[in-house]
Amino acid sequence: MSNFPSLTGAEIRQKFLEFYQRRGHQLLPSASLVPEDPTVLLTIAGMLPFKPIFLGQKEAPFPRVTTSQRCIRTNDIENVGRTARHHTFFEMLGNFSFGDYFKKEAIAWGWELVTSVYQLPPDQLVVSVFHEDETAFAIWRDEIGIPVHRIQKMGEDNFWASGATGPCGPCSEIYFDFHPERGDTHIDLEDDSRFLEIYNLVFMELNRQSDGSLVPLAKQNIDTGMGLERVAQVLQRVPNNYETDLMMPIIDAVSAIATVPYRQCDAKLQTSFKVIADH
Ligand code: GLY
Repeated sequence: MSNFPSLTGAEIRQKFLEFYQRRGHQLLPSASLVPEDPTVLLTIAGMLPFKPIFLGQKEAPFPRVTTSQRCIRTNDIENVGRTARHHTFFEMLGNFSFGDYFKKEAIAWGWELVTSVYQLPPDQLVVSVFHEDETAFAIWRDEIGIPVHRIQKMGEDNFWASGATGPCGPCSEIYFDFHPERGDTHIDLEDDSRFLEIYNLVFMELNRQSDGSLVPLAKQNIDTGMGLERVAQVLQRVPNNYETDLMMPIIDAVSAIATVPYRQCDAKLQTSFKVIADH
C-alpha cells in the first residue's frame, strides 16, 4: 500500500506554487475565464493568457511564472460525470518558461515535485514522450533513471496545441498507475481504469500556420498543466475527481437540498449529482 500523504486541494495548490516560486518563478493570479484571444471563446488551459508571449507578440513580464488557472473545456462535456476524471470546469496548475529553461529542467522539476513534494512512489508512475522526441526520452532514461519500459512513446496524443493554429510542441506526460501489480509488460496509457495523466510538460517551440505547416518559434518555451482535481483524486485516495474535497461539498449540498443521499444512489443518479457539481 502506498503511503504518500493525503493533502487537501488547497495544500496541493499551495505546494505546487511554492515549489516553483522557490525555483525563480513569479506567481501570477488566474486570468479571466473569458480570454482576450479571439480564436477561443473560453480559457481552456493555463497557457492561454501567455499565447502572445509564446508568439513573440508581447514581451514576457518575467522569464518564469507559475499560476493556478481556472479553465473551461467544453469539448469534454459529454463525458462529464460519466468518467472519473472529466469535467468542464477545472483548475490547472502550471509552470511556464519564456525562452528561459527548457526540457531538462522542466522534466527534472516535474519529477521532483511529484515524487518528493507529493511523495508519489516512482514505481507507481509512468511517463510518455512524443515518439520523435529522443531528447526527452534520453532525459527520462539517463538523468531521471526511469526504466525504459515505463517510458511510453506516443503519437499525436503527445503533441500539444491550444488550437488549430498557434504555439504548439511535443509534450511529455506523467501518469499515475493505480494498479502496478498488473505489471509492466502491457502498459496501455489509454486504459483509464489503471492510468491517470496528472502532469503534462509541453515543449512549446513551434507555431502551426493555417496551412498546417510548423514554423519554429523565436524561443524554446515551457508550458505545463497539472490538473488540480486529478492530483487530489490520487492523493485523497478517492475513486474520482468529484469525491475530492474540491467538489464533494457541492455534491453534499445538492444531496441535502434534494434530500437524496448521494452514497445510496445508483451510478446513473450519482452521474446527475456530478453533472450539477461540475456545472
Ligand atoms: N497546456 C498544457 C495542457 O493543457 O495540458
